[in-house]
Amino acid sequence: MVREKIISQEELGPEDERFNSALRPESLDACIGMDDLLEKLQISITAARQRNEPMEHVLLHGPPGLGKTTLAYVIANEMGSAIRVSSGPALTRPSDLIGIMTNLESRDVLFIDEIHRLSPAVEEYIYPAMEDYKVDFIVDSGMHSRTINLPLKPFTLIGATTRSGMLSPPLRTRFGITHHLEFWTPDDLLKRCRMSADMLDLKYEEPALSMLADRARGTPRIANRLLRRCRDYAQVKGDGHLTVGSVEAALDLEGIDQLGLDELDRSFLRRIIEIYKGGPVGIEAVAATLGEETDTLVDVVEPFLLQNGLLARTRRGRMVTAKAYEHLNVSDIPPQTEAGLFDQQ
Ligand SMILES: Nc1ncnc2c1ncn2[C@@H]1O[C@H](COP(=O)(O)OP(=O)(O)O)[C@@H](O)[C@H]1O
Ligand SMILES: [Mg+2]
Repeated sequence: MVREKIISQEELGPEDERFNSALRPESLDACIGMDDLLEKLQISITAARQRNEPMEHVLLHGPPGLGKTTLAYVIANEMGSAIRVSSGPALTRPSDLIGIMTNLESRDVLFIDEIHRLSPAVEEYIYPAMEDYKVDFIVDSGMHSRTINLPLKPFTLIGATTRSGMLSPPLRTRFGITHHLEFWTPDDLLKRCRMSADMLDLKYEEPALSMLADRARGTPRIANRLLRRCRDYAQVKGDGHLTVGSVEAALDLEGIDQLGLDELDRSFLRRIIEIYKGGPVGIEAVAATLGEETDTLVDVVEPFLLQNGLLARTRRGRMVTAKAYEHLNVSDIPPQTEAGLFDQQ
């Protein structure tokens, strides 16, 4: 079985990426959903523009595919500024970061994706840059060493992460706006699908598009990807229109079930049931039996399962819920969890 999962921007094929950027809204007005966040951003951007200052530093966290990169571009656009894009793993040496920062113009946006993966040596240079728009670094060593202070133009740092818990507290507290992106509602996903279908000049039956939105795992990036697969299917097997029948068949072919779970989601739950009697079990153990990275499970697989009540996180590990047994059609449900086992968080 194929275990396809779109994890990060870098793992998208060039075709996916072209499609994704073509579908990105360019202004706050064109953005779907996230009403609270959009209003907050609108106010900050307007205020900053009126004062001729950069916008506050923004930290966006949440599962992949929900709109972090999109928002960074939208903010830069609304500020009328340029955006420089980098990522935690790409900035291996302090000089990489310093080079980028010293080239920023006033009010530019520096977007650092996967900011939780910045090395501590590089991160150190970010603090004074964020706070006072300067970098201090030491050149030469021993007797000849001296500190150079470089002023920077006032800029906005936008950080994106799937794991805010892995961000060091000094970094986290330096952001003026911090926001957790939630999974999208089916309504918002439907709006996204409509927009994408129109941009692709794709004809569809409304219930067909609703079905697609309902099974997109709360994730606009997945909705866009499924839409393309359904378009291919309808073109090859039908007359090009998205009908309920063609969408259903295309999604089946993709291994997407009624709840939007894919093969990896189901293997994850099944493995816990079959090998660990439903849990509790540590995530590393599940990762090992699945042959997957723990990070992938924590960042990509678990959030949706937790949100949908198919999985629970307890003090003693992960547990599959009765709802998951039912969904997977496993009749042999073990006795329910003892009281007090679940974390209250
Ligand atoms: N606010 C939004 N309004 C409309 N479409 C959006 C919005 N946010 C994201 N999208 C869609 O979802 C896709 C994935 O978003 P992206 O910003 O790449 O997610 P992330 O960076 O969080 O992984 C985008 O290509 C775009 O089509
Ligand atoms: Mg991104």
